[in-house]
Amino acid sequence: MNIKEVATKPFDNQKPGTGGLRQRTKIFMEPNFLENFIQASLNVRIASGDKIDTWVVGGDGRYPGIEFLPKIIKMLIANGVKKVLVVGRELVAPTPAISNVIRKYKADGGFILSASHNPAGINGDFGVKVEMSNGGQAPEAVTNAIYEDTKKIAFYKTLDISDDEALNLAEVEYLDPIKDYADLMQSMFDFDAIKGWFDAGNTFRFDAMNASTGPVAVEIFVNRLGAKREWIINDKPLPDFGGVHPEPNPTYAKSIYDFMMEGGADFGCACDGDGDRNMILGRGFYVKPSDSLAILTKYHKLIPYYRDGLTGVARSIPTSSAVDLIAKDLGIDVYTTPTGWKFFASLLDANKINLCGEESFGQGGNYIREKDGIFAILFWLNILSKTGKTVREIVEEMWNENGRYFYSQYSYEGVDKPKAEAIIERMKAVDIDGGNFAGFTIKKKEVFNYVDPVSGEESKNQGIQIFTTDGTRIFARLSGTGTVGATIRFYIEKFEKDKSKFNVPVMDYLADVYKLVDEIFEISKNFGDIKPSAIN
Ligand code: G1P
Ligand code: ZN
Repeated sequence: MNIKEVATKPFDNQKPGTGGLRQRTKIFMEPNFLENFIQASLNVRIASGDKIDTWVVGGDGRYPGIEFLPKIIKMLIANGVKKVLVVGRELVAPTPAISNVIRKYKADGGFILSASHNPAGINGDFGVKVEMSNGGQAPEAVTNAIYEDTKKIAFYKTLDISDDEALNLAEVEYLDPIKDYADLMQSMFDFDAIKGWFDAGNTFRFDAMNASTGPVAVEIFVNRLGAKREWIINDKPLPDFGGVHPEPNPTYAKSIYDFMMEGGADFGCACDGDGDRNMILGRGFYVKPSDSLAILTKYHKLIPYYRDGLTGVARSIPTSSAVDLIAKDLGIDVYTTPTGWKFFASLLDANKINLCGEESFGQGGNYIREKDGIFAILFWLNILSKTGKTVREIVEEMWNENGRYFYSQYSYEGVDKPKAEAIIERMKAVDIDGGNFAGFTIKKKEVFNYVDPVSGEESKNQGIQIFTTDGTRIFARLSGTGTVGATIRFYIEKFEKDKSKFNVPVMDYLADVYKLVDEIFEISKNFGDIKPSAIN
């Protein structure tokens, strides 16, 4: 085969963020933008002496992933890859299913063409996640090296063949994205019990948000578990996700949220574009992702896969502390990591933990190295079917036993980047310990620097944490997944033991903390009359 080197010039906007490289779709379609990033990623793996014999390519089906596929195949083979495993002819598969393929077929790495929950289409976003042989995202040392490589790249390697020939090369194999993943789920959860729950007349609703999880959801919930076909909605994957913002939270997945709040079904749920996030809803009841992680931890023994117990759990530091109380009861360790699933990988690899999660609608376990929306949903169905309790009962019982962490996450999206960066820089520097703001006294302010307990790798400046003397915790950071301007994220929590207060709406309970954040971080002062988007 004719390998050719194509001259190229560096782009200055190829720094991978929290979950791979994300950019506007139109930027990804600029000549050589994709090619440069793919070549830089391969250069780094080759330079570190890693094998790149078998490579997986998958995606969440968003435009123009399928058009990028032949280009990537040609580059992989030209760089020495011997076997390319493509997950699905249409390149539609949830990220966790792709992580599973990498592990199952012992691939040396992979590319996931996805921008997760960001909107898709020509006016939306595109992205590439670089996966390692463990089926998890490249750690920071690797993504930093890739970024350095993108700044000096001069050529990329490809094959002198047509797209059609590339798609039909003997080195390219197409895998069924559904069967392997559905089999994996069936091996972990009590499908008989869940089937019994459906047979008993309980009702269900799953919103695939026109993205990658629809076909898998039909196979698992309908074909294998007996749910009604009409309970699975928006299940046809569309290249632009039908114009919806495929982020499963009360703001963007409003229709299923409202349906469930009006008592539409016994259990409701949704996944994001690439299927690694989930939202859990009971009849008239919304489960905060942080509480969901605590519940999964609490009931893990009901799940066949976790019958022998948990080795430990982990949460990202902005996630609420609810899971810590459960871990304490269970006598297991809790690790707190920076934001981003990649930080869980080394703990999972070392078996220090086998369950973990983030406040951003993500939970997962040690069977793969990505978070997994359908896993969390099946976990809940397994709990409901074995306990016979409702979603609300499960959560309220936990609060009654342990107390409730009132928790809220909210973001100012797409704001002026220099201003946002200046806010964080100023907060890093100021000394506010002992100071009084909005009726609170600051006990301690710190910058969160992380040292991976397994690899020793250091990740500095992962956010700002503030504790007040009354036990309120505030965490603040800039998002690493946005593509326009900057996004400032705030995470606040306060612990309550008094049961009579558990039904106070979260936003009322934390009303004074929102004001405190505004005052210390000078949000209104900088941005005027700005409202946060997406409060959870
Ligand atoms: C966001 C979430 C983070 C998650 C990531 C990928 O990143 O906050 O928890 O891991 O998406 O799904 P951020 O935009 O905050 O950098
Ligand atoms: Zn996602």
